[in-house]
Parts: sequence; structure tokens; C-alpha cells
Amino acid sequence: MTEASLYDQILDFSNRANPWPLYEKLRSQPVWQESDGTFVVSTYREIYALMHDPRLSSDMTNLLPQFADRVPPAEGPHSFITTDPPRHDVLRRLAMRQFGPPHRPDLIDRLTPALSGIVTGLIDKIAEKQEVDLVDEVAYPFPVAVICHLLGVPPEDEPKFSAWVNPIVNALARPTPEQVQARDDARQQMSNYMFELAQRRRTEPGDDMISGYVTDDSPDGRLEGGDLFATLMLLLIAGHETTVNLITNGWLTLQRHPDVLERLRTEPRFAIRLVEELLRYEPSVHILPFRTAVSDIEIGDTTIRKGHPIAVMLASGNRDPECIPHADRFDPDRADNVHLSFAGGVHYCFGAPLARLEAQIALTQLAKRLHNPRLVADPPPYRPSPVLRGPIHLRVAYESILPAGNG
Ligand code: HEM
Repeated sequence: MTEASLYDQILDFSNRANPWPLYEKLRSQPVWQESDGTFVVSTYREIYALMHDPRLSSDMTNLLPQFADRVPPAEGPHSFITTDPPRHDVLRRLAMRQFGPPHRPDLIDRLTPALSGIVTGLIDKIAEKQEVDLVDEVAYPFPVAVICHLLGVPPEDEPKFSAWVNPIVNALARPTPEQVQARDDARQQMSNYMFELAQRRRTEPGDDMISGYVTDDSPDGRLEGGDLFATLMLLLIAGHETTVNLITNGWLTLQRHPDVLERLRTEPRFAIRLVEELLRYEPSVHILPFRTAVSDIEIGDTTIRKGHPIAVMLASGNRDPECIPHADRFDPDRADNVHLSFAGGVHYCFGAPLARLEAQIALTQLAKRLHNPRLVADPPPYRPSPVLRGPIHLRVAYESILPAGNG
């Protein structure tokens, strides 16, 4: 039997709780070529350069035919995350118009009281208990409620999304045929739902993003048909799992560093630095698994060959001691935090301002209101995905829930 490569070991579920030693080994060489033809890039400088390299493609139709089965293309329209410029840029501009500056400059800022209100309500609900799963009670329902609110998805439809999002996320790295089928079924159902919702918003527009998309004529035209549905699906999925993982990985890290948790309870505005360091130290997105090259790319002694699959190891780059001093140390006071957790280049995360704010609010309120919290299991059980990595459950016991506004 041949020995599993480092990349195979990273994908293997048994290493999900602690992939860091494997990343360290991976960085002994900036680029590895797997026996299946995949190039794995793991060091900070090389990842950074690659993400700004116009030869790097997110469009999987640029893969050579022999790799087509490695990333079975989803049926239906593709969103801008899997599109290259110039098409990518037009779709992203259209999507961004309803989300941020300059068209809607204060959308996220205005949300702050509503976000705090949602978290307060979720924590109030667990006041009678002394042990909960933080994923189910806070970390998951919070970002889901927020993205649904922003888009204009009625709250009663929110539960449908977890049933659709899970199979899509589970098919992100080397999916089995069954996972591919489950993913395509989920996409189809979500797309049908979105079609009906967009129709409703056309006739009865509100202040939400979907209403904006279906009524706003921009210099680039209007988001329509398959592009509209693909964008909505992307926003729902991207706005879901990633932030859930940031909150749960964040809480786990705080429990493992009680001095930092104490600072969060007492120090105003500490959450801003803290969340930045959490993004670096325990990122939600570990791997960008779906990239290829439109022409050969030289990195050091290695040539990434045109049309081959490329896996970009963001989480490994975040711990690269060549660029980040004491990279394995969790230090919210570090002077220059240069993490890769929102990627970079043209695909830099669209939702970063929202994600940061959500995590700052959720972690601060939890820190202030959970009296004497402790982890029930450390490490906790993890979700299957090596790409979007985080606990599937995070059971926390506490003595009581303090009133909102405490401290
Ligand atoms: C902690 C939370 C989040 C993290 C760690 C995160 C991370 C990322 C990363 C790494 C990418 C690059 C993907 C690639 O290049 O293939 C990305 C792209 C994207 N993210 Fe986020 N994200 C987060 C939250 C959000 C939220 C809340 C939204 C929506 C409101 C969002 C929307 C998007 C979109 C639309 C893209 C595609 C951008 C493009 O292709 O131009 N993300 N995100």
C-alpha cells in the first residue's frame, strides 16, 4: 500500500481536529505536486502572489479533460466565485451594489443594533439551561438570520437552508458520486425556491437585497436569470458556514485562552483586534480547493502546469513563520496581522465587513453573559469538510446566564 500524501492526510477526517502539524510539514516545500496531478501551495508569500496572479483561474472549465472528474461541475448556472475576469468583475459589481459602498454605504453599519438584538434574543433563550450546543443555539442561527434578513428571505423559510447548504458544502473537496448527486439535488431545490422568491419581490419590492437586484438598473445592467440565482445561492452559502465557523472556532479558542476571554469581558473595543487574530489563527476557510492555471506558473523550482488542479492552503499560509512571527502563538496584540483568511485578489471576500461585525458582536455578548463557561469536550467533534473547517457541535456548560447589558 502506498503511503498517503500530506494533502491526503489533511483531507482525511481523522486529522480535522489538529491539521497544524501537517501544514507545518507541507510548508517545507512551497508547492507539492500530488500523484493525481494536483498542485498544493502552502506558504504565505507564494499564496499571496498566486491569488493576485491573473493566470490563476477559478473557472473549472479551464481544467484539462483528464481532471474533469476531480471537480464534478455543478449543474445549472455558475456564480461569480467560480468565474474569471472580466465576467467575474461585472457580476461582482452588480452583486456588490446592493451590499456596500458606494451604492449602499451604510447598510452593514446600520445593522449593528439589529445584530445585537438577534444575539441577545438567542442568548436569552438559553437562560434556563446550564449546558448548550453553542453551534445550534447561537453560532448557526445568528448568521443565518442575518443573511436571510439582508436578502429578504422570510424567517419561516430559514430552516430549509441548512438542509440545502450541508450537501453543497460537503461536496467541496473530492466528493463521492453520492455527494455530487446530493449537492445537485440541493442546488436544484434552492434554485426553485429562489426563483419563486425573486418573482414575489419583483411585484412587491422591499428594502432587501433581492428586491434591489430585481429592480435596480445599474451601468452594468441588471442581475437576471441564471446569474441572479447563482448569486443568491452564493450569498446564502458564503454567508452561512463561514461565519458559523468563525464564531465557534473563536469561542473554542477563547475557552482555551481564559486570559483573553477575560479581556473580552472587560475591555471595550478589544473584540476588533481579537476577531482579526481569530481569523488568522483559526480560520473558517482552510483550503481554496478549486483553482487551476490558464498558463504555466513558475513558483520557485516548480512549474504549476496549465490546466492542472491547484489547492491553495490558506490556513497553512496563516501560520507560516517565515512571514508571521510566532505564527503558532495566539496573540490578539500582534502588530501586523497579515492573514489570508478572506483570500485576496479579485475574489477577496465580499462579506468580510459583515463577518467581522457578526463575530465581534456574538463573541462579546457570549463573553459577557455566560457566567463561568467551560467546554464539555475539547477537542469538540468537527464537521466533515476540510475546506470549511469548524466544530459541528460545541457543548458549553455554565453556571448561569447574566442579564443583557451586564458589564
Ligand atoms: C468568517 C466569515 C467568512 C470568511 C472566512 C469568508 C472567506 C471567504 C474567502 C476565503 C473567499 C474567497 C473564495 C475564493 O477565492 O474562491 C470568500 C469569497 C466570498 N465571500 Fe466570504 N467569507 C466569510 C463570510 C462571508 C459572508 C458573511 C458573505 C456574504 C454576505 C460572504 C460572501 C462572499 C462572496 C460573495 C465571495 C465571492 C467573492 C468573489 O468571488 O469575488 N462571505 N469568502
